[in-house]
Amino acid sequence: MSKLWSGRFQKETDCLVEDFHSSISFDKRLYKYDIKGSIAHAQMLGRTGIISAAESEELVRGLEEVLSDIDGGRVEFTVSAEDIHMNVEQLLTAKVGEVGKKLHTARSRNDQVALDIRMYVKDEIDQVGALLRQLQADLLSLAEKHMDTVMPGYTHLQRAQPVTFAHHLLAYCQMFGRDEARLRDCRRRTDEMPLGAGALAGTTFPLDREFVADQLGFSSITWNSLDAVSDRDFAVEFTAAASLIMVHLSRFCEEIILWSTAEFDFIELDDAYSTGSSMMPQKKNPDVAELIRGKSGRVFGDLQALLTMLKGLPLAYNKDMQEDKESLFDAVDTVKKCLLVFGRMINTMRVKKDNMAAAAKGGFTCATDLADYLVRKGVPFREAHAVVGKAVFYCLEQARNLEQLSLEEYKKFSPLVEEDVYEAINIKCCVEARRLTGGPAAKAVIDAIDKIRQRLAGG
Ligand code: ARG
Repeated sequence: MSKLWSGRFQKETDCLVEDFHSSISFDKRLYKYDIKGSIAHAQMLGRTGIISAAESEELVRGLEEVLSDIDGGRVEFTVSAEDIHMNVEQLLTAKVGEVGKKLHTARSRNDQVALDIRMYVKDEIDQVGALLRQLQADLLSLAEKHMDTVMPGYTHLQRAQPVTFAHHLLAYCQMFGRDEARLRDCRRRTDEMPLGAGALAGTTFPLDREFVADQLGFSSITWNSLDAVSDRDFAVEFTAAASLIMVHLSRFCEEIILWSTAEFDFIELDDAYSTGSSMMPQKKNPDVAELIRGKSGRVFGDLQALLTMLKGLPLAYNKDMQEDKESLFDAVDTVKKCLLVFGRMINTMRVKKDNMAAAAKGGFTCATDLADYLVRKGVPFREAHAVVGKAVFYCLEQARNLEQLSLEEYKKFSPLVEEDVYEAINIKCCVEARRLTGGPAAKAVIDAIDKIRQRLAGG
């Protein structure tokens, strides 16, 4: 079939080129947005008198039929029609005849594709946002069950100070909350309606851009036609936000992988979220967590691809921009799948409270509290630090821990130590003493949970 743009051409497109520059194999995913956009455009052409009311109705009816044909799987897209925009126009004209050729009045594929992707990104932001909220809700429920599950907090992956598992989970809640806010922010900038920009310089027809924006649920319209057709910032922003979600998931997965080793033994993943080995019968591997960690790389790659695609482009539209879609789609698919499976994996894992508590007790995690105890007795902190350091060394040499030293032994390190030291270094007391806002004590954790719940409820 001859191309919709074939007028000035004397030769057919080389078949290799036809395949090479066609995007239908992947941009067909945009068909709903493309058709909705075309319906709004056709209605507007009728209202403004650019085409007749009857023609407008005919186009809308035809487009609705094309939509239901595609929905019903009754359509074969063709590579020769290049992309989703021209496929739809061709299907429409086949249905409604001559009037179909009026649809593209005062429009270019350049503003059309900008419209489609913006609509797509807005929808996907809403879906990813909902997944992030669900994940935060799941983390909150899990945290509520583990308010007094003491575990070691780490720096350098060395046991540092005691926290609770609830507190640890809430750290990720904060990250996912920021991810959600980043997406909302990106959505505001995506929410601008570009139709009317034409190929690059607007159009001579008196379009009603606000009407189209309104019909399609956009809160504003773009203000520069060159920018409108060549901007993909919003896709970059989305993919950057998706990359950070993947960073957060990946770090969490790394911990889950560590925690499920025999060396840590803090959790056991459910059988449904683990896999076995083809050779080693005893193995139960945290493949799901590893795969999420691995897939983060794809999304970073998608971001890099988009940035590199854009960086050398002169204004306005260039065909390079067709390369935005596969990266964007891949980022969307990957982040959604990962969020979904991750949520299920943590909701079903078994938490080994006793092992966490034993690890917290074992690694001198109360040493700072002992130093703080001496500070309260009047010792300058730097000195207290040195005294406790010596006590730790003494314990290490005898394979004991700080709780096991007698008062007489303590007195040798500092005469200021009294019987109350044992409460000061009791692991639960160490946690409870950290009740400042943002800390691991139950009270602070309850306040943090309240705050997150309010945010999730939209308050
Ligand atoms: N398939 C193209 C894309 O995705 C649509 C715009 C094509 N415009 C053009 N002048 N070749 O970017």
